[in-house]
Amino acid sequence: MKTATLSPFAKAVLDGMQKIPKQIPSLYFYDEAGSQLFEQIMQLPEYYLTNAEKSILQNQSNEILSAWQGSNHISEKLQIIELGAGNGEKTIFLLKSALSLFPAHQLEFIPIDISQAALEKLSHTCWQHFPQLSLNPVQGDYWEVLEDFSHHAEGTKKLVLFLGSNIGNMTWTESIAFYKKLFSFLKTGDAVLTGFDLKKDIHLLIPAYNDSSGVTREFNLNLLRRMNRELGATFALEKWDHYPIYNPVKGAMESYLISKEKQTVVFKNLNCDFHFEIAEPILTEVSFKYSFSQINDLAKNSGFALIENFTDAKQYFVDSLWVKS
Ligand code: AVI
Repeated sequence: MKTATLSPFAKAVLDGMQKIPKQIPSLYFYDEAGSQLFEQIMQLPEYYLTNAEKSILQNQSNEILSAWQGSNHISEKLQIIELGAGNGEKTIFLLKSALSLFPAHQLEFIPIDISQAALEKLSHTCWQHFPQLSLNPVQGDYWEVLEDFSHHAEGTKKLVLFLGSNIGNMTWTESIAFYKKLFSFLKTGDAVLTGFDLKKDIHLLIPAYNDSSGVTREFNLNLLRRMNRELGATFALEKWDHYPIYNPVKGAMESYLISKEKQTVVFKNLNCDFHFEIAEPILTEVSFKYSFSQINDLAKNSGFALIENFTDAKQYFVDSLWVKS
């Protein structure tokens, strides 16, 4: 089969199965079932990240917005752009504060997501809570949308939200490239608010990625279901374990699927098969945890000035505000 005719998922799997260790990029978790499982993960008590960030936005949105505005002219039009908005559950708090601090006609909310279903849910919530808000949801690629908005940026000030520790699924090099690109789309005074999961007691991390109700296990195994469905693969799910560990050298949680036995899996649509040894891993996700000094370095190395860090009471999570100065 010519690789040019393959889907991006098929190409990524073919490529990843030839690496050592075998691996699949975590972005492929998010088919319809995977996105629903992730929504369930965010409701789990063990997955502390969501509640920690929610409490930051619930309690400190006014401070975040005031720090962003600083000495800026209030007469400018303000845009809050959220990358990977999902259902926007946490953003509601920020929007509520923004509407009370700035008159509605000045504020536009632009949530961007690849999932149309998530955007519809979010739009519905916004209309319910804030009928006066100017809402412009866009389905698609972050960069195409940012490019589009940078063309009519005259007289507008932007706050880009990248919440939920999505940055944690990128390597250091990918993160620098990501922020440098973002920097190029912004103008002086525009800002970015990123949610970073902080380094902490690893005994809190393990259950967050291996919850007692088994939702995260299902989320990981769903990748096998996706390969069976989309690539004609023959994975038998009972022959695989969900195995998350903390790598203290990398400062990251790593999630693996581990083969319980020596086996061969056929990929009918790819005309190939792959062999797995007993206890052989497939790396499916890396979730980096940050220190304050790493966050500082990341901002500096990508050209931004760190304005302020907003943490939850337990210091599990930080929303870090950076500005293009
Ligand atoms: C989307 N991302 C920030 C989550 C994380 O924590 O790395 C995905 C996730 N994986 C397992 N649980 C949640």
